[in-house]
Amino acid sequence: MNLQERDRAVNWHPYTQMKTAEDAIPIVKGSGIYLYDEDGKKYIDAVASWWVTLHGHANPYIAQRVSEQLNTLEQVIFAGFTHEPAIQLSENLLKLLPENQEKVFYSDNGSTAVEVALKMCIQFWHNQGKEKTKILAFKEAYHGDTFGAMSVSGRSVWTKPFGEMLFEVIFIDPPTSGNIEDLKIIIKNHSEEIACFIYEPLIQGAAGMLMHKAEDLSELMKFCREKGILMIQDEVFTGFGRTGKLFAANYLSEKPDIMCFSKGLTGGTMPMGITTSSQQIFDAFLSEDKYKTLFHGHSFTANPLACTAALASMELLLKEETLEKINLISQKHFNFSQVLKNHPKIENVRQTGTIIAWEIKNDEKTSYFNEIGKVLYREFLKRGIIMRPLGNVMYLVPPYCITPEKLDFVYRNILEVLDSFSN
Ligand SMILES: Cc1ncc(COP(=O)(O)O)c(C=O)c1O
Repeated sequence: MNLQERDRAVNWHPYTQMKTAEDAIPIVKGSGIYLYDEDGKKYIDAVASWWVTLHGHANPYIAQRVSEQLNTLEQVIFAGFTHEPAIQLSENLLKLLPENQEKVFYSDNGSTAVEVALKMCIQFWHNQGKEKTKILAFKEAYHGDTFGAMSVSGRSVWTKPFGEMLFEVIFIDPPTSGNIEDLKIIIKNHSEEIACFIYEPLIQGAAGMLMHKAEDLSELMKFCREKGILMIQDEVFTGFGRTGKLFAANYLSEKPDIMCFSKGLTGGTMPMGITTSSQQIFDAFLSEDKYKTLFHGHSFTANPLACTAALASMELLLKEETLEKINLISQKHFNFSQVLKNHPKIENVRQTGTIIAWEIKNDEKTSYFNEIGKVLYREFLKRGIIMRPLGNVMYLVPPYCITPEKLDFVYRNILEVLDSFSN
């Protein structure tokens, strides 16, 4: 049996209707912006493998650091024990975050980083004898696939089978200068019962790269602060340079109480989630009373290999040349967005930093199962470019090591494909 047949015999792929899905493409090697299949065909990973790969595949520096760590200490229980990579990573990360972020809690992925954040907020109130259990979130939000993360995500085809089991959330539209006063009224009416507000800052990724303005979000955050509502800033996608600045937080005038990270945290090399908190949140758990403990943990909490990968990735990220590349991608994306805006088959072009998105004009545009996306996906694969449209929304989230020439190659192919198909 070849790899595809063996895969089909044993593997169940994510978000995949296994009855109708085409065979998965076996990838045997990664290097820089490229992934190589078993026939030697190479693909530009224009979506950074689900938005995680920052410095390219099989980055030699990260590989070397992880390999050294692997031969030194691969794993240790993080209850009752600690280690240098976790301490160093927490120190390094906190230095880059808004100054009210004081403590780091480790987990395994973006969804668990969100679960931890939600539990911190609910228990923050509970530990003070207050039962606040409602959460405020954006319509069409996406915070992950575990039950808590699903609950605070927009209701959709993904959450439908579990509808009755998801907890109660007050959903609001993302802020605009036109609706902000209405949003404040909704929040004001519920402010006594709302434990926290969770949001993807500036960009709602999985919803289709929907973007809102930093000044509008800052105003909403300020209002939540005035009303005593805790804030969870989910930077799982936006963190580590994606928005053009190190974090979306760098665009905002208000500070969240809690922040969530994953994806680019390890440069996309190893699974890891982080939830950071303010001193005020942390202090609400300090007590002689055992019941006030944050009872949460995972077997691989603060795994030394993942911590080392994150340390190495952040070192690379902070290099002048990487920051310049992020700026260059952002500038080139901006220029390309101006070209796309004039294209007759395209609408709603948007760009923030290294993220650019646009929509194919189409009748059934709201459907996730939009056929156009699939056609385009296949066409780009043929051309050696990995792009995964979200319905009719197409986007680019390239690794930062992509060269201007390769980015131009991707842009050129996008224009050719748009010109070649009829809608
Ligand atoms: C903003 C945001 N939060 C959380 C998650 C969930 O992360 P993970 O897929 O690692 O569970 C995602 C994943 O796309 C995300 O974009």
